[in-house]
This record gives sequence, C-alpha cells and structure tokens, in this order.
Amino acid sequence: MAKNKPEGYLSARESRRISKENRKITSAMEKTRKRKNVPESEYLTTMHDPNNAVEFDNLHTYFFTDAGTVKSVDGVTFEVPIGKTVGVVGESGCGKSVTSLSLMQLLQRPQGQIVEGEIRLNLGDKAVNVAKMPDKEMQHLRGNYVSMIFQEPMTSLNPVFRIGDQVDEVISLHNGEGKSKEEVKARTIELLELVGIANSEGVYQMFPHELSGGMRQRVVIAMALACNPKIIIADEPTTALDVTIQAQVLDILRSLKDKINSSIMFITHDLGVIAEMADYVVVMYAGRIVEKGTAEDIFYHPAHPYTIGLMASKPVVGKQVDKLYSIPGKVPNPINMPDYCYFKDRCEMCVSGCSGAYPCEVSLSETHKVSCYRYYDEAKKGGA
Ligand SMILES: Nc1ncnc2c1ncn2[C@@H]1O[C@H](COP(=O)(O)OP(=O)(O)OP(=O)(O)O)[C@@H](O)[C@H]1O
Ligand SMILES: [Mg+2]
Repeated sequence: MAKNKPEGYLSARESRRISKENRKITSAMEKTRKRKNVPESEYLTTMHDPNNAVEFDNLHTYFFTDAGTVKSVDGVTFEVPIGKTVGVVGESGCGKSVTSLSLMQLLQRPQGQIVEGEIRLNLGDKAVNVAKMPDKEMQHLRGNYVSMIFQEPMTSLNPVFRIGDQVDEVISLHNGEGKSKEEVKARTIELLELVGIANSEGVYQMFPHELSGGMRQRVVIAMALACNPKIIIADEPTTALDVTIQAQVLDILRSLKDKINSSIMFITHDLGVIAEMADYVVVMYAGRIVEKGTAEDIFYHPAHPYTIGLMASKPVVGKQVDKLYSIPGKVPNPINMPDYCYFKDRCEMCVSGCSGAYPCEVSLSETHKVSCYRYYDEAKKGGA
C-alpha cells in the first residue's frame, strides 16, 4: 500500500493488479462450473443427519472485488431441521443474505463464489451438495425444493406484468407439466387466497403498482410457495411493512409452514420477530457464527458478548430507559479482517485469552454453542 495514504487507499496500479488476479481465480472457478455433462457423483452427498433439510458445513463465500477479497461468509456451519424454523440474526452486512443466496446459487457471479465448504440439501431420496451443483440441475431445485422470499417486495415483482401472469409463470415453469392454462390460473387464484388476498380475481388482473406494500409482499410469498418447497428462505420479509401487516404476514408464514410441512430459514435483524417465529437461532457477526442454539438458549441464556449486547439493545415493554443500549464501535473492514476475535475491539467483557487467534466453537450444552474465550475455562472444566 502507498505510504502516508489513508487506510484502505488503493493506487490505480494496485487495483489493476488485484482485478487481474481476481479474473484469474474466478475464470478458473467459472470454467469448472460451466462444464457440460457433470457426473452426478460429483455433487451427490449424504446428510449427516437425515432429519435435517439443509446442512451448511464450513461455508466460505467470497466476493472478489477490485478493492480486494470480501470474505462475506467465512466458515459458517449450521443446520435447518425438517419442519422447523431457524432464525438468522445479525447486524447489517454480516452475511445473512449472502448465506441464503449461496443456498439458492443466486450469488452475483463471477465475483461472488463459494470457495470452500458444503451445502447439503436433503431431497428425500438423496442429498446433493449445492456448492458443486451445475447450473442446469440447480434450476430444477430452485422453486421446487428451495424458494426465497426476497428482502424488498417492491423490487422482486416485475412492474410491467400483471400479478396473475407473474404467478402463472412460476407455476407453469416449475410444475406446470400437463396443466392447461385454466388449471394454472385456478392454482394461482388458490395461492392468492391462501396468503390472505381477499379480492383474488381482481388482484390477478392488477399490476404491482396498484397494490399496497403488504399485498405485494403476500404476492411474493404466494410465488415462493407455488411449488410446495421443502425449504423457504425468508430474507427480512417484513422489514418494509408496518407492524400490523407484519403480524399478518408472519401468521401466514407460520400456518403455511405447518400446512406443507416445510422448513423456514428466517433472516432478520428484528429480535422480536425471531422470538415469535424461530425454534433455533443462529447469531452471525462479520461473516461468522458467534453463537447458535435453541430460541430459549439464545433469549434466556445469551452467552456471546455480541448477543448479550443485541438483547440489551432491544426495548422492553414496561421498562423505562432514557436511551436504548447500543453496542459501541463498528464492524471491522471485511477486506482486512483481524487475526483475533472479530468482536474484540467492541467487546466490553474481554478476558485474558482474547488476544489469541479467532476463538473456536465451545459447547455450552447439547444445542448451545458459542465462539468466545470467556467460556474456554468452563469448557475445559467440563472436559470439552
Ligand atoms: N455483489 C457483491 N459484491 C461485493 N460485496 C458484496 C456483494 N454482495 C454482498 N457483499 C458484501 O457481503 C457482505 C454481506 O452482505 P449481506 O448482503 O449478506 O448482508 P446482510 O447480513 O444480508 O445485511 P442486511 O441486514 O443489511 O441485509 C457485506 O459486507 C457486503 O458488502
Ligand atoms: Mg440482507
């Protein structure tokens, strides 16, 4: 880096060098990805636990940008059991969306690449590793097995097509074989009613701009559910909605989950929503999981200083405070991550071991895991 320049400064020459290097790396990856007739053995795998719908195993997803490599997801391991809801929480930019986009294989390529790790997806009779899946095969899984409700309902619908046509298209593309136009339309109307749209025939004919935000979000949910997916990824589905509509949308999701017995991966930074929805919670910080456990573990016994800070920063009904707690400091630069605990510079509970390398995961109970030096001694005492 040039001398006497601010941190993060890159000269044009350096940027060119990085970009050239990146191209080399990403084109090699794209080449393996774009091969034709990839044998099934390359992406078939076995689930570690057949009761899981998805298992993320040491997932590393990087973006090779001209300013350097952004390690958006850096060694994430967690599972989503069949029929359960897993909440993923963490502050903006910690890699929640990138984790879910990796599962959908919808990363912005060629910069965005899964560089290491497995994502095992349970298809019932077999399991596949999504990280190695060729594009063509992935097409069959998206929608049919995994579907996603995107972060912004306003931008996920096409403004120039009628609602009916957009939902029809999803159905005919994924399981429309042998269905007539009328049958597809009937299914669309059925779906719109399922997500609580009263005037379904009318909405079928409308354009997205004629609907309210809540209705648009319902349409997006209807599209995601069109093919009874095994896993629904809901990426902050209620962030853009007001509280009453939010409650309705959450109700819809919950009842639909039970109706089609699917699993939900629920991404949000709203802890209230997580408390209401999730069976298990995964807390992410700067591309890594700092703590995971059942909803009870996380809400009643938060262990990582970051989780404790998150809990302290949410308002509590009936408790009067002048100012809500906020975690001091900011997230480290994702291009230049420190070689010690990423949270250390913001942590108010540091212990002597904290200056060591990034802490590995410690088990506090069968379900509750945390990456923090504060629990090393306890774990040693317990023989872990
Ligand atoms: N296409 C991209 N190119 C480069 N960097 C990216 C790209 N997409 C995401 N990132 C980086 O990856 C990191 C994680 O982003 P991500 O979208 O997963 O955050 P998030 O946890 O979903 O945040 P939010 O709560 O705001 O949605 C961020 O540092 C972001 O800058
Ligand atoms: Mg996001």
